[in-house]
Amino acid sequence: MCGIVGYCGPKKATGILLDGLKRLEYRGYDSAGIVVQKDGGLDGVKRTGKINDLRAIVPEAMTGNCGIGHTRWATHGGVTDLNAHPHFDSANRIAVVHNGIIENYTQLKAHLNAEGVVFRSETDSEVLPHLIAMYYEGDLEKAVRSALRRVKGTYGIAVIHADEPMRIVGARNGSPLVVGVGENEMLIASDVTAMIAHTKQVVYMEDGEIVSITPDGFTMTDIEDKKVNKQVDEITWDLGSIEKEGFACFMEKEIFEQPETIAQTLSGRIDAEYATGKLGGLNMSSRELLGVKRVKIVAAGTSWHAGLIGAHLIESIARIPANAEFSSELRYRNCVVESDTLYFAVTQSGETADTLYAMRELKRKGARVLGICNVVGSTIARESDGGAYTHAGPEIAVASTKAFTSQIAVFYTFALLMARMRDMSISSGFRYVKALQSVPEKVRETLTRRDEIQRIAKKYCHARDFLFLGRGLMYPVALEGALKLKEISYIHAEGYSAGEIKHGPIALINEETPSIFLVPADELREKVLSNMKEIKARNGPIIAFCTEGDEEVASIADEVVTIPRIDELFYPFLATVPLQLFAYFCALELGRDVDQPRNLAKSVTVE
Ligand code: G6P
Repeated sequence: MCGIVGYCGPKKATGILLDGLKRLEYRGYDSAGIVVQKDGGLDGVKRTGKINDLRAIVPEAMTGNCGIGHTRWATHGGVTDLNAHPHFDSANRIAVVHNGIIENYTQLKAHLNAEGVVFRSETDSEVLPHLIAMYYEGDLEKAVRSALRRVKGTYGIAVIHADEPMRIVGARNGSPLVVGVGENEMLIASDVTAMIAHTKQVVYMEDGEIVSITPDGFTMTDIEDKKVNKQVDEITWDLGSIEKEGFACFMEKEIFEQPETIAQTLSGRIDAEYATGKLGGLNMSSRELLGVKRVKIVAAGTSWHAGLIGAHLIESIARIPANAEFSSELRYRNCVVESDTLYFAVTQSGETADTLYAMRELKRKGARVLGICNVVGSTIARESDGGAYTHAGPEIAVASTKAFTSQIAVFYTFALLMARMRDMSISSGFRYVKALQSVPEKVRETLTRRDEIQRIAKKYCHARDFLFLGRGLMYPVALEGALKLKEISYIHAEGYSAGEIKHGPIALINEETPSIFLVPADELREKVLSNMKEIKARNGPIIAFCTEGDEEVASIADEVVTIPRIDELFYPFLATVPLQLFAYFCALELGRDVDQPRNLAKSVTVE
């Protein structure tokens, strides 16, 4: 979703802004723009389309050492050049880029109209430069503070004024903003990926904070103008993590990274001596963990699917009732919070608005909420009571892959920890640990099925609809497989519990509707085989993902992809990876933009 980048320092700002925006492309956007301070004024360009389209129209002469840029994902107002950011005040002296939504913009706009202000766009964001201009008396930071007092809604903003060279003012309320501290240069961005090429020293802003940056440093204050002391954090990953490194696209790279990323997630989290999980970041004593009577997980999209797997594991092996719910649902229902329930907010970005607000609502009611986040320093990571980072490294492709397998890896360690405090014996613990530790290698082996999966994808990718079917732990995997296919290939796909198809979806089956069956050697294999036969009897093509050596499945299915044998609890890792590849190869074959699918955003920071 929308991205912000700003630079002030000795270098030419234009190139830095365009490169920064390029790095933010993965978040999803439909238009972009930049503005720099030049010859006592402001020089800006903006347009719909990709960053390369914008780059093509940036004039050579558009140079300056301080500027701001933006990628927009339309909310208020269509996808047009005029609605793209930056937005300017009437005199073109102030430029603003904004992420978030100004909820009271209708009232603010009416008020500004009455003052004679003529709006150029249909956006909510444009009220900001006009409001700031109304309050401006020679001090941009002061004017921003006064304007924001009138604003209701969410924002991450960066603002420049033609009369205040080499200064950028930023403010945050609900939309992330990070300050980058360089040598004689400073940056500001909605996401560290936009600035990692220039500095690894960053300062995460909190809601209600306003920053003023110049090449020499920054000052941070709250909305009441009280100084806030901030700590400078160091980013631990480098530029290589956000480059394709020989792969055709980020999604492919991220799929193939999974043996390493899962190992990274598990690293240091298994206590081999006691055969249990080690999750120090939970900030809970063993006594407190023992007192947990219920686990509830909130999340969105792929993270919700990880939550379903987590809940299944926690309930089946730790014997603690657990379930997973959409954060977008929980935040608006009057949910019951009990003191012995432990909550998890699962999120790759750590910024998903629905998950953030669900977490805040739960915390307001007194719940203890732990975060399972990938992005270090993200809002949910910082506001949760504790949790575990997934350590999968930056995930750039919009469709989540490695973050998902790392999220479930965290749940596998948490479920083990809870199980070993309750019913699970040490010998069962050892077996579990051994299987869990074998996952990265088995995922590596699964990835060697690449060519076979590509062949099948080529053959079936012109189907209009797909069904993804599984039971037990394979049911959430089926949902995830269907979601991946929808997201990047735009083929309609439904994930369903294989046991439920007779209650409706079987009506869709004909020679042209393939069913993807997840049928590894687990306790429900026989049941799923029966479901396969039901489809076969109706002439539906079947693509089965089963354990190697399963001749019976092979004899029923039209196509078979085998996955390595593993303890049955761990098949979610091995069944997910080939489905990611299947979606990827279908999208590739259909010529889709794999990394940036239409209409989707990586980090959904609006409702
Ligand atoms: C968006 C992304 C999905 C992601 C979901 C939740 O829809 O496109 O890939 O699963 O948000 O995001 P989160 O960052 O909270 O995991």
